[in-house]
This record gives sequence, C-alpha cells and structure tokens, in this order.
Amino acid sequence: MPQSASVTNAPFHGESPSSESAPEVCVKIANFNAWYDSFQAIHDLSLDILRNQVTAFIGPSGCGKSTLLRWVNRMNDIVPTAQCTGSLRINDVEVLSPSTDVVHLRRQVGMVFQKPNPFPKSIYENVAFAPRLHLKLRRGELDELVEWALRKAAVWDEVKDRLNAPAFGLSGGQQQRLCIARAIAIGPELLLMDEPCSALDPASTLAIEDLIYELREQYTIVMVTHNMQQASRCSDQTAFFFEGRLIESGATDDVFTKPQQKRTDDYVRGRFG
Ligand SMILES: Nc1ncnc2c1ncn2[C@@H]1O[C@H](COP(=O)(O)OP(=O)(O)OP(=O)(O)O)[C@@H](O)[C@H]1O
Ligand SMILES: [Mg+2]
Repeated sequence: MPQSASVTNAPFHGESPSSESAPEVCVKIANFNAWYDSFQAIHDLSLDILRNQVTAFIGPSGCGKSTLLRWVNRMNDIVPTAQCTGSLRINDVEVLSPSTDVVHLRRQVGMVFQKPNPFPKSIYENVAFAPRLHLKLRRGELDELVEWALRKAAVWDEVKDRLNAPAFGLSGGQQQRLCIARAIAIGPELLLMDEPCSALDPASTLAIEDLIYELREQYTIVMVTHNMQQASRCSDQTAFFFEGRLIESGATDDVFTKPQQKRTDDYVRGRFG
C-alpha cells in the first residue's frame, strides 16, 4: 500500500469524521433492483459502503457497476428508460426518495469519470466554479480553496504557474487530477470514481492510486476498476459483481486471497472477464 501523506482539512469544509474509530456505514444499499426498460441490470443487491474506506467495484463488462454508481448520485434521473426499486441511503437519508434535493446530493457525492471531462474553462475556473456558486467565498478564500484542492489532487506543482490557461491544454493524467480537485473542492463526503485510471499511462495511474489511498482519510471512496492489481493495491473493501448480482464483498485481502465463491476466485485470477 502506498504511504499516506499527512492530510489537512479543507479550508471552509469543517471537520471530517475521524478515521480512527471502527468503520461506520456511509452508504447502505438494500434490496436494490434497476432496469432499463424491461431489461433488469441489477438484481436484489444489498451492500454497505464503509466510511473512510476505499471500496473497489469489480466484475466483467456489463455487470452493473456503473449503473449502481449512477443511481447513488441520481444521474440516472435523466435516462428515461431507467427505473429502480429498493433503498439506497447515504447517512440514513434515502437517496431515491422523490423529495431528495438532487443539488444537495451532488454536493455530497463527487463523481470522477473514466475520461477526464474538464469544463472548457481555465484550470482555476474548473476548481473555483462550483465553490463560488455554493460556498459564497471571498476571492482570497476562493484562491486558498483552489490551491488546497489542486495540492490535494497532487497536480498543484504542475499547474501553479498557469492557473489561467485552458484546462484542455493539460495532459490526460493532469486533466484527471484536475477533475479530482474539482470534485473535492465542493467538500463532498463520498467520491465515486468510475474507472478513473483506465485512460491514463502507468505513471499517472500510480499518482492517482496514491492519491485515492490518501484521500480515503477524509472521504469515502467507491472506485470501479477492471485492473485487479489496482483493486488490490488501493482498496480496503472489494465488491464483486456478476450479471447484475453482487456475488461477494468483504475486505480486499479476503476477496483476493480466500474468496468464498468460485466465480470470484475465477475472476480475480483472470480466468474470465
Ligand atoms: N442507458 C442504457 N440503456 C439501456 N441499457 C443500458 C444503459 N446503460 C447500461 N445498460 C445496460 O445495463 C447493463 C449494465 O451496464 P453498466 O454500464 O452498469 O455495466 P458496467 O458493469 O459498468 O460495465 P463496464 O465494465 O463495461 O463499464 C449492461 O447490459 C448495459 O448494456
Ligand atoms: Mg461501467
């Protein structure tokens, strides 16, 4: 496991939960089913995501990993054919309730995608945009927050002299770290990362893995990955999905070294998928 560097709280975000006590449940998923039209993509899935831990979602293509993530921050609201039943609670608040404030939810749940998707704005603005809207900070405070987020995402040294340059001028790995900075700047408590390294070179991948491992001291992280070494290197918990069902979940070391299910064993050993 990478060494974690010292972590300081974000300015303006308040205290983070202590990571020293026994892990608490951050997201409680119970009897969750999801469909696209009549196709059932997720079947009766129940899973606890633990606070201040990295949980890796693994499983072959099409097994429902992204579908589940998209329901956690209600991104599937904009897919007309998408429907679900069951319960999905963050800190005991039902995400799927019609009364859920989706704007508040998206501040609570940051999302990082497979392909870096910076806004067509400057590096500074990519990070400052949402905090300016939601946190009502003065210019100096905003500068401080932008620097904090870029440092935390391990990209500050590479961009500090060109904060006003377009984000599109950065390399893919730098853009991805900028997107992580953007995601954490608003002070989420849960970070969802859908194959965050799959478009990156090995050096950028390692930088982001180190970062994910460090960030878990302040955030709860769910990371989808097809890379078994990555899951075993930087996650605490692993959940294995197959054909829309959760087959097995638990401490990453257990899932990789003594899985309970043959299908998990076959998958983590690379026998299929
Ligand atoms: N918008 C959509 N409309 C219809 N079917 C969809 C839609 N999105 C996903 N699906 C289907 O739902 C199933 C689960 O897809 P999902 O994207 O969640 O898989 P995944 O585990 O993330 O796969 P991958 O590892 O390839 O990203 C697949 O059969 C997929 O084709
Ligand atoms: Mg996916």
